[in-house]
Amino acid sequence: MQGWDKVEALTADAYAFGLGETRGLVADYIPILAETDPELFGVCVAEVDGSIHSAGDAAVEFSIQSISKAFVYALVCEELGHDLVKEHVGVNNTGLAFNSVMAIELNYGHPMNPMVNAGALATTALVPGGSPAEQWELIRQGLSRFAGHPLELDGEVYRSEMATNQRNMAIARLLESYRRIEIDPLKVVDVYTKQCALRVSARDIAVMGATLADGGVNPITGEQVVSAAVCRDTLSVLAANGMYERSGEWLFEIGLPGKSGVAGGIVTISPGKAGIGVFSPRLDSAGNSVRGQAATSFLSRSLGLNIFASDVSPTRLEP
Ligand code: DON
Repeated sequence: MQGWDKVEALTADAYAFGLGETRGLVADYIPILAETDPELFGVCVAEVDGSIHSAGDAAVEFSIQSISKAFVYALVCEELGHDLVKEHVGVNNTGLAFNSVMAIELNYGHPMNPMVNAGALATTALVPGGSPAEQWELIRQGLSRFAGHPLELDGEVYRSEMATNQRNMAIARLLESYRRIEIDPLKVVDVYTKQCALRVSARDIAVMGATLADGGVNPITGEQVVSAAVCRDTLSVLAANGMYERSGEWLFEIGLPGKSGVAGGIVTISPGKAGIGVFSPRLDSAGNSVRGQAATSFLSRSLGLNIFASDVSPTRLEP
């Protein structure tokens, strides 16, 4: 594949390119995140054949935050099927911030989008299990299978968010009032907050992305984590919604499905080829890592990954 012989060097170049970007602010609405070193920066490309290319702080752990939404969505689709989840949670962009309450009201209580907090809470509520503890275990094990090793809860991040997430509690209560959450909404918030506090590295999210890139097969363990059909559905939802209200800009510049998290991670998927994981805590106003976007954009362009670009054949059939 053109450019792939240089992927190791291009990963280092993407890191160097991203380092030049110093704009953005570290998230502080979850108090513990404000203590993160703003200079941390890691880039990792995990190919579907299991090759790994890393630069910078690619092994440093951070909380997965909203990136978890993509993988919990995939697990729930695997369990419950495409149609039920589509009807219950939706697949459309709200065009509003990830924690918008107005989006729920504007849509008569339908969450619309599984990649914003309302839709993610509605999705987590659908996770099978007789109790919140069972749901949490299913999520932790499922995301660990995507990563290829056991993921651990960051207790400090979990407690810090639980002490300050009144807004998510309000969103969950509102969804309950519209019957979009049919179990105890505050317990759903608790499980959701735990899923967001799982510790991952840029390398981990690259491997998780590569699993979605390869029809659900983890490139390190060889395990089929979810079906190819679920990967296809998840990637289309990410393309439309993965970067919140900036999803259009992201698709325009980078041309790949991706998902960001407020701790500074971004996972990007190049279908059939690779997962890209980046981590840098300084965010733009939509909550997307600034250096992460720069490095991913560099890789998409230099490796020719934009899914909307097609090579024009020199010959064509005459009518
Ligand atoms: O629910 C929240 O607000 C966080 N646990 C996750 C939000 C998030 O990651 C938004 N991302 N850019």
